[in-house]
Amino acid sequence: MSIKEAMSRFTTGVTVVTTHYAGQDWGMTCNSFNTVSLEPAMVLWSIRKEASSHQAFTQSGSYLVNVLQADQKDTAMRFASGPQAERFVGQACERTDHGNLKLHGSVAWFECKLVQVVTAGDHDILIGEVLNYGSREGDGLVYANRHFGVLTAFAS
Ligand SMILES: Cc1cc2nc3c(=O)[nH]c(=O)nc-3n(C[C@H](O)[C@H](O)[C@H](O)COP(=O)(O)O)c2cc1C
Repeated sequence: MSIKEAMSRFTTGVTVVTTHYAGQDWGMTCNSFNTVSLEPAMVLWSIRKEASSHQAFTQSGSYLVNVLQADQKDTAMRFASGPQAERFVGQACERTDHGNLKLHGSVAWFECKLVQVVTAGDHDILIGEVLNYGSREGDGLVYANRHFGVLTAFAS
């Protein structure tokens, strides 16, 4: 079994991270998102150094993490490949005061100021301080074994 396969056994949520840089919007599907600190509120995610949006996310100064809802599998797929401009076509969004796009339909969002970049192998870990956030009722999209799904909770 490859290391990638072993890592895929770890079940995660799915996010789309957006930023605004060099006069355009950038967005990518990301499941490496995690919480770090409550006081101050800080989160992290990692980006492949070779990603075409790497410069945008490391230089723009801020980004917005959209936590996808269970019915947003198509959104997750669309933001995982293809030209940046095409990823936002038909996507209902709202622009924040910091210029980042908040996707409609997400169950939670965290807008962050980039405070630290930690280089780790072929990825960079982006640590952000949360500037604004929001959430609503709803189930998040789940990713495991390279498949999207929905969490079924045990009856308590
Ligand atoms: C479910 C899922 C999770 C992903 N998580 C990450 C991630 O955490 N970090 C990353 O660099 N790429 C991740 N990717 C891949 C990126 O979305 C993809 O490489 C990127 O959008 C390619 O576009 P770019 O090179 O133009 O940025 C993920 C893809 C999928 C489908």
